[in-house]
Amino acid sequence: MQRLELRALALVPPGHGRCAIWVLRSRRSTEVPMNVLDLFSGIGGFSLGLERAGMRTVAFCEIDPFCRKVLAKHWPSVPCHEDVRTLDGRAMAVDVICGGFPCQDVSISNVTGTGLDGARSGLWFEYARIIGEIRPRFVIVENVAELLNRGMGRVLGTLAHLGYDAEWRVLRGLDVGLPFIRERVWIIAQPKCAGRERRFQYLGSLGIQATPSAERRHQAIRARAELEAYCHSLRADDGLSVTMERRRIHGLGNAVVPQIPEAIGRAIMSLNR
Ligand SMILES: C[S@@+](CC[C@H](N)C(=O)[O-])C[C@H]1O[C@@H](n2cnc3c(N)ncnc32)[C@H](O)[C@@H]1O
Repeated sequence: MQRLELRALALVPPGHGRCAIWVLRSRRSTEVPMNVLDLFSGIGGFSLGLERAGMRTVAFCEIDPFCRKVLAKHWPSVPCHEDVRTLDGRAMAVDVICGGFPCQDVSISNVTGTGLDGARSGLWFEYARIIGEIRPRFVIVENVAELLNRGMGRVLGTLAHLGYDAEWRVLRGLDVGLPFIRERVWIIAQPKCAGRERRFQYLGSLGIQATPSAERRHQAIRARAELEAYCHSLRADDGLSVTMERRRIHGLGNAVVPQIPEAIGRAIMSLNR
């Protein structure tokens, strides 16, 4: 589909009246969505955000039976591969690969964690193999912020080895207005440009301000108290029953905050028109 676009080319110099020269250009519509492969999909937090930004998930990969049921309910027509170790990306047409690989061996709560040498977080290398097979235009990775101390160099090194440059930024649930800290590192990678360094701009252009560190805990406590007061005034539950909803809580606890992939997706879509 073609669409017409009105663009200001230049301002006429002073003395000739201040008017702009406008040109009508036709160009391809950007409404063709980017295809997404969502790895380690969990309950689909990444896809929820990226689809809100106009992208389209064409395949999932998730091993947990409960999460697979949630994905099948919300994306009934999208295939879900079971195990990242047996996923062959070579025949897949995908623009974006996203995923938060398992963090258990990287997490700060695992004091003896072996980082990317661990069986679970080491699945990063399967993720990397699939990137190499598909060579997408964009890779979006999410993980706990402790990755910066326990494996970030190897993640960036693997991407560089595959011919990808990367930018990264730590973002929190609080930064998008949610009542919890949930600090995560976000990485966006793109194929290197031949002969020159790629100028990155996505994570800096999200319109998200980092919450100042002195305020973080205070703000999280205040937001939580406000939420509880609100629920109390409505005589509503302020959460989920732990015993009844164990699997849902587990899925939610693992999930990304969809507002962040949504903002990233919008930045990618708007800078690639
Ligand atoms: C951190 S969670 C990702 C959560 C997801 N981003 C979301 O928003 O819900 C990691 C997921 O990887 C899945 N996983 C672990 N091993 C896997 C494997 N071999 N193949 C596919 N998925 C796997 C886990 O079941 C878990 O749901």
